[in-house]
Amino acid sequence: MTGPSDKDQRRLYGDLAWTWPIISAPEVYVEESEQFAALIREHSQIEAETLLHLGCGGGHNDWTLKKHFRLTGADMSEDMLALAKRRNPEATYLTGDMRTLRLGESFDAVVMFDAIDYMLAEDDLRAAFQTAFLHVKPGGVFVTYEGIKPEMYRQNHVEHQVGREGDVEIVFIENYYDPDPSDTTIEATFVYLIRRGGKLEIETDRHVCGLFPTETLLTLLRETGFEVKELPGKTPEDATTFICLKPPPAA
Ligand SMILES: C[S@@+](CC[C@H](N)C(=O)[O-])C[C@H]1O[C@@H](n2cnc3c(N)ncnc32)[C@H](O)[C@@H]1O
Repeated sequence: MTGPSDKDQRRLYGDLAWTWPIISAPEVYVEESEQFAALIREHSQIEAETLLHLGCGGGHNDWTLKKHFRLTGADMSEDMLALAKRRNPEATYLTGDMRTLRLGESFDAVVMFDAIDYMLAEDDLRAAFQTAFLHVKPGGVFVTYEGIKPEMYRQNHVEHQVGREGDVEIVFIENYYDPDPSDTTIEATFVYLIRRGGKLEIETDRHVCGLFPTETLLTLLRETGFEVKELPGKTPEDATTFICLKPPPAA
């Protein structure tokens, strides 16, 4: 398993977590969250009332999911959990690494969204899928999707967002670069141009993210014990969604 290194600062989930709601508005997460809720309803073989969200971050997906389920979120960042608790006081939030979390209880469904980007090696993915398997009830589903996949990845790709809240305006610039195409990771470098009442501060941040072929995810999910249905994106560059049923015990 690979953990954060000096190249993997993740300030966005630490001292810069306060910027998250400004650079990544909760409204942006409504469509994918509604889609996951609908997939759970459609594919679960049991009534889905309780949901565990692995890597829940600042609770932006949860803002929609909580309308459908009794929600528990887990994340390894205390700063992101503080945001999630503020946004969703109705939900239960817990600190934990999704590769090792063991709550001793099971849920009707489990989801993992963009936190999957932080699984850097096959062992990380295997461990996170095992956590999902152990926490979902037989007949229930785990729904996740690909983070970044080779077909989507473009070397030195740059994106930017502009967000405002009160007198704070942030230009958030993202650059993706793969220093070694033979391994399963890429570097994301972020620059934050933060203006308070027009006065500029510049912050930088680096994250290491995983990059895996669709087939790898599919194989690992099946090896974990799930029966997997793939929902391909509209184009080969779009992420595939995986609907993973934990088979009920044989009658
Ligand atoms: C992009 S954020 C998720 C944002 C989230 N979709 C939301 O609705 O606000 C990614 C999250 O993954 C979390 N994360 C990364 N690796 C993790 C791990 N091994 N276990 C738990 N959380 C993890 C980070 O702490 C971060 O909060």
